[in-house]
Amino acid sequence: MIEDSDDLIVDTMQEAPALDEIAHAAGGAMIKDVFSPPWQNAGRGYFVHPEARVAPSSVIFPGAYIGPHVEIGEHCVIGPNSAIGQPGFGYTEQNDGSWNYREHTGGVVLEDNVHVGACSCIDQGRHRETRIGRGSRVDNHCHISHNAHIGEDCLIIAHAMIAGSCDIGDGAIISPGAQIRDHVTVGRGAMVGLGAVVVKDVPEAEVWVGVPAKFLRARGEELR
Ligand SMILES: CC(C)(COP(=O)(O)OP(=O)(O)OC[C@H]1O[C@@H](n2cnc3c(N)ncnc32)[C@H](O)[C@@H]1OP(=O)(O)O)[C@@H](O)C(=O)NCCC(=O)NCCS
Repeated sequence: MIEDSDDLIVDTMQEAPALDEIAHAAGGAMIKDVFSPPWQNAGRGYFVHPEARVAPSSVIFPGAYIGPHVEIGEHCVIGPNSAIGQPGFGYTEQNDGSWNYREHTGGVVLEDNVHVGACSCIDQGRHRETRIGRGSRVDNHCHISHNAHIGEDCLIIAHAMIAGSCDIGDGAIISPGAQIRDHVTVGRGAMVGLGAVVVKDVPEAEVWVGVPAKFLRARGEELR
């Protein structure tokens, strides 16, 4: 685990990026519009592990942690106090009932133009990298576990929990507070409703709701 915390303190006091640089990195009018002059101090006080790679056009907000084996593509935004690449939650029970940590070195990949809000966690992979596809948006207070793959242009909305090794297809929407069981696949273009507990694979372009989640209807064009 972490031997020397000094090794992790990199770029913590780097100069704040200019407003136009932040807006450029955010890559969209919506984000650009919400930035105002006080945000020019964004960029101070985050931690980037020396083994992480962050594209220069990406913006990292104060309090964020970027761990080892993390790759962050171009024009990404990592919100305040979000953690990308901390060890995944993987333990093996011992004969005496105690729990031994299983090493996680699978990495995390954020493809280009991924936005992560405040206080969200994207854990280090173990069997494979944890991956967020190009253009996807992760809201505040979301948890994405080890080995999960989120496709392109997905929305993962407030307090959603994606358990280990899930596959979320391109364009899928995971609504606030939804919980996705480990190893479950949510199909391309599917939508999981508010507070759903998904314990089975969700087919493409379907809307599932409830506990346990079940089919509600096909997902119409109005939601795309
Ligand atoms: C899943 C969702 C899209 C369904 O919306 P809809 O198709 O308009 O469905 P309706 O509201 O007409 O409801 C249809 C039925 O499903 C039920 N239902 C709807 N959403 C539900 C949910 N999340 N959990 C359980 N049941 C739900 C309704 O109670 C209704 O049941 P009934 O026919 O027995 O009365 C919507 O509920 C949802 O979760 N939207 C997410 C919104 C969101 O993420 N907002 C974030 C903004 S930041």
